[in-house]
Amino acid sequence: MRGILLAGGSGTRLYPLTRAVSKQLMPVYDKPMVYYPLTTLMLAGIREILVISTPDDTPLFQRLLGDGSQWGLTLSYAVQARPEGLAQAFIVGSKFVREEPVCLILGDNIFYGHGLPDVLRETATMTSGARIFGYGIRDPERYGVLAFDASGHLSDIVEKPANPPSRYAVPGIYFYDGTVVDRARSLTPSARGELEITDLNRLYLREGLLGATKLGRGVAWFDTGTYESLLEAAIFMEVLEKRQGIKVACPEEIAFRLGYIGREEVLRMASSYKNDYGRYLCEVVESGEDQWK
Ligand code: TTP
Repeated sequence: MRGILLAGGSGTRLYPLTRAVSKQLMPVYDKPMVYYPLTTLMLAGIREILVISTPDDTPLFQRLLGDGSQWGLTLSYAVQARPEGLAQAFIVGSKFVREEPVCLILGDNIFYGHGLPDVLRETATMTSGARIFGYGIRDPERYGVLAFDASGHLSDIVEKPANPPSRYAVPGIYFYDGTVVDRARSLTPSARGELEITDLNRLYLREGLLGATKLGRGVAWFDTGTYESLLEAAIFMEVLEKRQGIKVACPEEIAFRLGYIGREEVLRMASSYKNDYGRYLCEVVESGEDQWK
């Protein structure tokens, strides 16, 4: 499966922070925001990734992430001329997707939790239909929200409903089969002028091809689009990393543990840091812990 990391948008809710710099380059504690969704794709076992951003910001992502080979990945880049919706990612990325299954992750969505890599890896093996997730929150009306019928089956997805039909918001990670580009091309812009991911998901739903998995309370999901949520995500990462002496979303570590890169490569990258990040990379290779299977 391939991955698309959508990291454009206008970031107006974070102005003035994001007037000059992409939201997805903002720090979340000790690393750029984009590291989190990027490593989520890595944990799903996805290595071929297209990063989509704005005309101004795409060169910055290229500078930060390069061609991905340092982490055993193949990264390529595409520009979304205007933020005309999440589903436009498949049109911008049509040459990359071709007719292969693909996972789309939003650049401002952060996932962390026990068992999540297993769920992602399993979901990434799908080859037909579409799979999305539902995550129970207090204010689902800011997102696409799942609706269920009397027998508990998924019956609809409603975008930013005034009266949410459930507590289950749809987080920004979606898995699709190879028909997604054609389906995205068949969409028409919504009232706000965007190709809506909810409309794309409803196309699959209407044909009985959409699965939705609930993510339990053991998983943390942050969307970092506001000052509050950006700070909350940073504090969450600080608390976790300090307490456990680990780093969340460290691409070098994940690449090493997945066997994509070796000791020498990690140590070479570590030597370019004169701080805790570099020390951590040394610890990772010296801890003697087994690589992940
Ligand atoms: P949003 O948070 O919906 O929008 P935004 O990032 O433009 O921010 P704001 O609402 O503050 O103006 O976007 C969700 C994610 O998707 C975010 O990572 C940006 C990205 N995105 C694109 O890359 N292209 C798009 O056309 C849209 C709508 C969003």
